[in-house]
Amino acid sequence: MENQTLKLTGNVPASLDNQSRGGSGAVTPQPRIEIDSGRVAPITLDEVKRYRDFTTLLRKADEHLGIIGYTEHGLRHAGLVSSIAQNILLHLRYPERQAQLAAIAGYLHDIGNVINRNVHGETGAILVLQLLLQLGMSVDEAAVVAAAVGNHEKQTGVAVSDVAAAVIIADKSDVHRSRVRNPNPAEFDIHDRVNFSAVHSFVRVDDVKHSIALELTIDEEAGAGVMDYFEIFLQRMLACRRAAKFLGCQFELVINKNRMI
Ligand SMILES: [Fe+2]
Ligand SMILES: [Fe+2]
Repeated sequence: MENQTLKLTGNVPASLDNQSRGGSGAVTPQPRIEIDSGRVAPITLDEVKRYRDFTTLLRKADEHLGIIGYTEHGLRHAGLVSSIAQNILLHLRYPERQAQLAAIAGYLHDIGNVINRNVHGETGAILVLQLLLQLGMSVDEAAVVAAAVGNHEKQTGVAVSDVAAAVIIADKSDVHRSRVRNPNPAEFDIHDRVNFSAVHSFVRVDDVKHSIALELTIDEEAGAGVMDYFEIFLQRMLACRRAAKFLGCQFELVINKNRMI
């Protein structure tokens, strides 16, 4: 990289958030760094986060899920899944760029909820593919990200790549009481109970033991019993186990320091 010279081009979409680059008022297309070979510099997670179309769609998706009574799936969930997916691959010593693609896919994985909860992975993948190409990502990389988005759902998703596997595990590991939107505990459904009981969750990756463990701390007084966890987690854990296996690892679920699987 040190011998590459940089030149500037003006091909940033107008909807890139100018405010976050320190500007104000009307959006002016900002220059992008282009590598001497003519190849546009890789799209980063930061650029994705600043792209207003993505932010708007993620916010609307979360708003729509809130109306039909789902737990939080907004920018908090997107950011967390993004960093967990990236960290899984970094801890397993994957190349930085592959981990960055996992971060981008993790950030965007639930965007399809803006259209419908059903098959939101697939609809999201189509949106993501189109918008990432518009943003300037290469087709090869956009395909990897879109496939990870399109395969994150536990019913239909398959770990079709290392990036997809990391996103599946990261998504299923976000269990926390802050996701519950229902203010009335008497009306909690099983998802609310399970999320509300979880006071801490952590994904531990051990590249020596080749294991990926989801460690949960649950407040047993908060309403969810272990059976609730099994009911909710069975399908999720099977998906995580398959995804971990794809990464050459064993998956473990640890609740209150007890290893369940
Ligand atoms: Fe999802
Ligand atoms: Fe999700």
